[in-house]
Amino acid sequence: SISKIQAMEILDSRGNPTVEVYLELEDGTAVVSRVPSGASTGAHEAVELRDNDPSRYGGKGVSLAVKNVNEVIAPAFMGLPVTDQRAMDQRLVELDGDPQKARLGANAILGVSLAILQAGAKVHNQPLYRYIGGLGAQLLPVPLLNVLNGGAHADNNVDIQEFMLVPVGAATFREAMRMAQETYQMLKKILQEKNLRTAVGDEGGFAPDLKSNREALDLLLLAMERAGLKPGQDMVLALDVAATEIKQDEGYIFEGTLKTGTELIDYYHQLIRDYPIISIEDGLAEDDWDHWQLLTERLGDQVQLVGDDLFVTNTQRIQRGIEEGCSNAVLIKLNQIGTVSETLDAIRMTHQAGWNAIVSHRSGETEDTTIADLAVAVNGGQIKTGAPARGERIAKYNRLLTIEHNDPGLEYAGWEAFRR
Ligand code: PGA
Ligand code: ZN
Repeated sequence: SISKIQAMEILDSRGNPTVEVYLELEDGTAVVSRVPSGASTGAHEAVELRDNDPSRYGGKGVSLAVKNVNEVIAPAFMGLPVTDQRAMDQRLVELDGDPQKARLGANAILGVSLAILQAGAKVHNQPLYRYIGGLGAQLLPVPLLNVLNGGAHADNNVDIQEFMLVPVGAATFREAMRMAQETYQMLKKILQEKNLRTAVGDEGGFAPDLKSNREALDLLLLAMERAGLKPGQDMVLALDVAATEIKQDEGYIFEGTLKTGTELIDYYHQLIRDYPIISIEDGLAEDDWDHWQLLTERLGDQVQLVGDDLFVTNTQRIQRGIEEGCSNAVLIKLNQIGTVSETLDAIRMTHQAGWNAIVSHRSGETEDTTIADLAVAVNGGQIKTGAPARGERIAKYNRLLTIEHNDPGLEYAGWEAFRR
């Protein structure tokens, strides 16, 4: 049973404060969890509690969230067992009482929920993915690696926020990572040859000054080919448009003009005809349900359509999406909803609809690797966790390499992950 819960303020990969939770059991078992943080956050996400005290960390301190863990949550959890995750998460939700977790903060709550999860795995003496997924965990996920950036994440003329490599034709996870790393390094070389910038963004992707979205896609195809890969066969592409960021009252600001949702859908139609694109995330804004429906009607049988800001890992919103035929896949981010159990509920609902669930990092991350285990545990077959660069992204990929190495019974998901 729990004998100690103590939070403290640490720094994430952007150098912003975030929450770390230390949890100890009576027998001396100890675990640590660390909470991630987004930049292009959806309006419907659970509340990340920040101090807003301009005299500390430019207002981004999380000392209130830390205090909530130490003074409100910890006393309420002393002496409780850790192996009933659902009951513990329910208790956290009730302790907060606000539907958006605005009182204690989703960052405070998630830190404790994740620590309880890890402690439960230790009590059962199981690897985390096996503790969460049981015998159902059979697949190593296909990585979606963000290697080129535009939109709000970059200072260039590319409107699409993320261009991702998807090494879908690999036989193993290890081979997938090699293919992606070689393509990423080739991309860097090509950018250098063109005298374009090779500094990397928050998720490890490049953000060169390009003329258009198509120029970005052409560069990625060239990088694949020069790395000895066949586009469309060994490797395909995925996009995150993050369209909420380009939404105005009257439409979308895209390629220098105002476009309607319908015009954007036409644009995507042409893109997937011309390039081996397997997945488009947030092609439309978070509350543009009507155009999401149209997008899904028109392209849903040709491409994976992923809702991130649209669903924010929230079962109420996913339920609406399923009923109205909006998208066919859900991006899964633990801190959008705030507890492990609610995240697992979102994944279950997604899978029951026959949709894909993609476990994802945030742009602000830490060395915590829980999402690697979660991706294996839920058998979703896909993970989105940045470029093959930057320690906090690599930590997740290294954890997956270790899981593959230690458990030869697991299979790389490959093309199967995109079957619907
Ligand atoms: P975020 O970005 O973590 O800053 O929200 C990633 C995404 O939009 O998927
Ligand atoms: Zn996104």
